[in-house]
Amino acid sequence: MTDVLPADPLISLRPWEAPEVTSWGRLPMNAVDRRSDALSLDGDWHFQLLPAPDAQVSDVWSSAHVPGVWTMQDTDDRPQYTNVRMPYTEFPPQSPAANPTGVYEREVDVPGEWTGRRIVLQVGAAESVLLVHVDGRPAGISKDSHLAAEFDLTDVVRPGERSVVRLTVVKWSDASHIEDQDQWWHGGVTRSVLLYATDPLHLADVSVRAGFDGELRVDCRVRDARGALPDGWYVSGELEGRLLAQDDEFDRVNVEDERVSDFLGEARIHTTVPEVRTWNAETPELYGLTVRLHRADGTVADTSQHRIGFRDVRIVGRDLLINGERVFIRGVNRHDFHPLTGRTVSYDDMRADLVLLKRFGFNAIRTSHYPNDPALYDLADELGFYVVDEADIEAHDHAHEIADDPRYLNAFVDRVSRMVLRDKNHPSVIVWSLGNESDYGANHDAAAGWVRRHDPTRPIQYEGAAKLDWAATDDCSDIACPMYAPLEDCVAHALSGRQTRPLIQCEYSHAMGNSNGTLADLWAAIESTPGLQGGFIWEFWDHGILQRVNDGRPVGRGGAGLYDNGVAAPGHRWAYGGDFGETIHDGAFIADGVVFPDRTPKPALYEHREIAAPVRIECFKHEGIVLGNHQHFRGLDWLTGEWELSLADGRTLTAPAELPDLRPGETAAVPLPFEVPRDGGEAWLTLRVTVAEDQPWAPRGTEVCVPQVRLRGPDAAEDAHVDRPVEVDGEGLLIHPLLAAAPTLSLWRAPTDNDELGGMAERWRAWGLDSLVRKVVSVREDGGRVTVEAEYAGTVGVVTHRQVFTRVEGGVRIDEQAELPEQFDDVARVGTVFETTPGLDLLEWFGQGPWESYPDRSAGAPVGHHSLPVDALFTPYLRPQESGGRHGVRQFTLSAPDATGLVVVLDEPRQISVTRYRAEDLTTAAHHDELMPRPGCVVHIDAAHRGLGTASCGPDTFPSYRIAPGIHRWSWTLRVL
Ligand code: GAL
Ligand code: MG
Repeated sequence: MTDVLPADPLISLRPWEAPEVTSWGRLPMNAVDRRSDALSLDGDWHFQLLPAPDAQVSDVWSSAHVPGVWTMQDTDDRPQYTNVRMPYTEFPPQSPAANPTGVYEREVDVPGEWTGRRIVLQVGAAESVLLVHVDGRPAGISKDSHLAAEFDLTDVVRPGERSVVRLTVVKWSDASHIEDQDQWWHGGVTRSVLLYATDPLHLADVSVRAGFDGELRVDCRVRDARGALPDGWYVSGELEGRLLAQDDEFDRVNVEDERVSDFLGEARIHTTVPEVRTWNAETPELYGLTVRLHRADGTVADTSQHRIGFRDVRIVGRDLLINGERVFIRGVNRHDFHPLTGRTVSYDDMRADLVLLKRFGFNAIRTSHYPNDPALYDLADELGFYVVDEADIEAHDHAHEIADDPRYLNAFVDRVSRMVLRDKNHPSVIVWSLGNESDYGANHDAAAGWVRRHDPTRPIQYEGAAKLDWAATDDCSDIACPMYAPLEDCVAHALSGRQTRPLIQCEYSHAMGNSNGTLADLWAAIESTPGLQGGFIWEFWDHGILQRVNDGRPVGRGGAGLYDNGVAAPGHRWAYGGDFGETIHDGAFIADGVVFPDRTPKPALYEHREIAAPVRIECFKHEGIVLGNHQHFRGLDWLTGEWELSLADGRTLTAPAELPDLRPGETAAVPLPFEVPRDGGEAWLTLRVTVAEDQPWAPRGTEVCVPQVRLRGPDAAEDAHVDRPVEVDGEGLLIHPLLAAAPTLSLWRAPTDNDELGGMAERWRAWGLDSLVRKVVSVREDGGRVTVEAEYAGTVGVVTHRQVFTRVEGGVRIDEQAELPEQFDDVARVGTVFETTPGLDLLEWFGQGPWESYPDRSAGAPVGHHSLPVDALFTPYLRPQESGGRHGVRQFTLSAPDATGLVVVLDEPRQISVTRYRAEDLTTAAHHDELMPRPGCVVHIDAAHRGLGTASCGPDTFPSYRIAPGIHRWSWTLRVL
């Protein structure tokens, strides 16, 4: 005989295939913030991974860390990356039979002093369905992988005794179909777990409204868990030491006689703060507010702590106004991500994310694509960010059917409303987003309807609702928030006369690999076109997971120190889709952020920093340099500066700068800080702007921007011709003691992600540009000049290339010309490539820098004298590609420690790169760790280099940054040091 166990209702109801079931036994979401009587349950829990939610739990336990995803711990269920498609074929609401289910269990000693108190279990987040048992009894169900769930355990546990808490987490569910965001799939308890106690008489919710005129309204909902009806309770507030009394005009005590509910009523505190310091992202002034619930005798039953900000959000016409100001939204999309812990992020990590964003000029975050950890909003309040708070709804693969599927109606309203209930008191949150890429249906309207009623103080946005016609008015999106809309379409819309709402792109400038081309052009248009107000770059992170190469496992929590400067330590790599053996995946599309997986900034961030510069050089006039304050709320007193004059002859002069006292929007001329020397050639004046006094996000001295103006153009220079021919070999290749490979023509760059996904690389390969075959046609000598004619044959055309070598004082001048046939329209580059002998490890240059720059991403790299070791020039994009370029280079020196080396002088500012890799090395490697540095340098000098654009997801570079066929000419001089 087998024992027939009573079926567990949490299992036998199969809630993982019931979209109507969003929770059971879960407490309403609220914004109460208590700081006492809490017991952290974080740490190592007993753990076992079942093959399916209805499989038997065994006696064999291992352990797993909470918070954490088991996919990054020691299990065989690994992370998997898909973008649009679901990782399995079952349709909503079904899930696959193989459905990893983590069972977490631990004992909890419930404090004896909690007798008589209300006891609540809070699970910060669990992915994707959470089933809770306490001492073997069902205690609750929750869905939404990115919001906390609370369960009242007062009648389940006994103070002074030990209880066993079991969290069963089902990985695949009906909810997965609306959590189909473009990111890694994981499973686990991703945020902290705690047990806390309150008085039975408690604050059930606190809603704060604080306007920028100083008006403060605090609404409290009050309950008594005993079902008792205590008389005479009241609330009070304390704002920065000032006591605030309950507003008795507002009497909402629940006075029904035969009450069955525990709801006692509502109370309000209402006041006006004189001379209020308002909150905005530049000066995020916060006030400490304590809300207290008192018993009739005045003793305190419950307390909630808040840091509030007085501010106002409104849309007037096509402007989004913060405190009446039309602010530019310089945003980024941010996922909860960490290369060691997946979806679990610590407070310190979140803070570091936001600090970095502040330092690079961002003032806004879209919490793509789900509510983030609560601490992120506290940090955004404190450091100053405008937040678009996004609900955890993305039905990408089955968008159309789900948006109107009534079985998912609950889930939509539940997810949006719980986010609003949780985050409503944060001044940083300025817009609610209904989710992402889920088409548009009745379920969205239902959710929007709830928000309109509950929080009329903030606009709503939803890209799916505003997709087809940005001018159409509907209830679901107060902002036209397209993704990756071409600039010309945005401008045309703004000029059309049909624009009814602000246009702020929810995603733009896709940062995959070497990208973010044309960012400066976009911002020039945004800042000069009424109706355009900014957007959110896609995205912050490259989601590379640190992986051991030998066994393919994620390194996990212990891996700190196994990476540096964007690069994984030897024997490790940044894994992307496919690297954990998954067959269904979307490859490197997960690596599309402005920072590397270890948060090392990519060069594109410097471009953004400059575009967002708070102080700028407007122009250079006779009376001096005109400076402007481009902030919205702040003066320039928190900044200081230094002038730097760079002359082509190698000199750099500096002088301290006094920044004028300018209000936002004002300009003023300041006198030129130098006598500019008459000689020295081309001259550039740079203002290095730094933080004058410590900011919460930047110590004094942190560089903020480097605006620049050219004071004088270059001198015309002629090299003295020496009447003695240079040496070339039988193939017409230059013979030179410092060159390991002679200068030849190059039309190929290792395709960037934009080149690949935008289809350009495919074309270039089809034309044979990756394997041009060189044939020398003639070698002639005439009056000391050696002329080499060569042909470079592709599959569909031949490029003729001519090099004229002239010996000059101390070196050789090379005049080159390449003629591209019509069919080679829009190639990657036209230029020279050569290789040096080993040992020349330092590059010094006069041109743009110091960081990597490209023709359509060079606004943030000032012209000056720069110097870097060759190894530091290369940017280690996760999937190797064209990298390390420097734009606008006039001259460079490559030298060995003993000061030997070579000098190259260019005929005009050119794109160059100096790396350890040939373009073919970068083309064939799939991960950075597969690259084998060459001992010498591979040097490119480009007559023309194609812009980067953002075509991996969005617009390509502009026609002006593309390369036309026909004749290209360039010249350079090579000398030995
Ligand atoms: C958008 C989407 C993002 C991400 C991005 C491409 O369509 O909202 O989640 O997939 O494209 O990286
Ligand atoms: Mg998507």
